[in-house]
Amino acid sequence: MTEDARFPAERLTVATLRERPDLRGQTFSSAFEAAVPEFMRHDPVAALYYADRALDRYLDFVLAATDREAPDRVIARATSVPVAYRDGTPGRVRLPPAGWDELIRWADADWRAKRRPTVVGALEIIVLPPYRGRGVSQLMLDALVVNTWNRGFGDLYAPVRPSHKHHEPATPFAEYIARHRPDGLPVDPWLRAHVRAGGRILNIASCSMVIAGTLEEWSAWTGQRFDTSGAADVAGALSPIQVSREQDHAVYVEPNIWVHHRV
Ligand SMILES: CC(C)(COP(=O)(O)OP(=O)(O)OC[C@H]1O[C@@H](n2cnc3c(N)ncnc32)[C@H](O)[C@@H]1OP(=O)(O)O)[C@@H](O)C(=O)NCCC(=O)NCCS
Repeated sequence: MTEDARFPAERLTVATLRERPDLRGQTFSSAFEAAVPEFMRHDPVAALYYADRALDRYLDFVLAATDREAPDRVIARATSVPVAYRDGTPGRVRLPPAGWDELIRWADADWRAKRRPTVVGALEIIVLPPYRGRGVSQLMLDALVVNTWNRGFGDLYAPVRPSHKHHEPATPFAEYIARHRPDGLPVDPWLRAHVRAGGRILNIASCSMVIAGTLEEWSAWTGQRFDTSGAADVAGALSPIQVSREQDHAVYVEPNIWVHHRV
């Protein structure tokens, strides 16, 4: 990326939704929802975080970024969640294969048990299409790290969704993420952005998101027909979905890779 193409850091204002509750509507507007494939909005675990009343618990961990030249226009968002990890809670000793889903379930269970969180989990960064390719995601990643520190935590764990894996869904995930450029950085742009921001690549989360639906639902989500059982590719998926005509369902299991940012 040339320096000219970069979005100047000083043009971006980042605030939590606690600080700027007026930006909440825009931060979760249809423009952001359209930034991910439709089927990804049907992971039932997501409601434990994104449903209105659940989100009220996490306002200190949701970042909205506005462009100084278009004040109050939200151009990017970052969401994260505090969780108890390695604090003695049973089952919290390693980063789970159920990645993204498990982070949200852990946070929900912690809230119910009034357990004190010890680390922050990064859930997503979304940059609106007109602002992509200009380094905004890296500014958002830095802002997420700073917010983690400001909230009193020293560790940010991200189940990263490599942004170009969907171009080759059949490639085994471990093989894909092992690809490096001659300069030693990952070939995948989003994984590279994490490493450049100081992230350390850890273990694979093989079942980070699990999305199941009837074949009618999958057709509505993707605009595709599923006439045969077995593996099928759908646009935006990092791996094939598994279709069963006999059972009238299909299941998508998304792999992610855990990355640790020591704040
Ligand atoms: C993934 C996403 C956040 C990246 O945001 P962005 O602001 O466009 O990314 P950046 O401009 O900061 O670029 C990050 C890296 O990716 C590279 N990159 C960006 N777009 C690219 C493209 N279309 N092709 C190849 N490389 C690309 C950049 O060159 C940069 O790498 P470099 O610094 O080594 O050159 C954005 O595309 C997005 O919001 N996607 C939808 C939501 C999503 O998938 N989020 C990630 C999972 S939570």
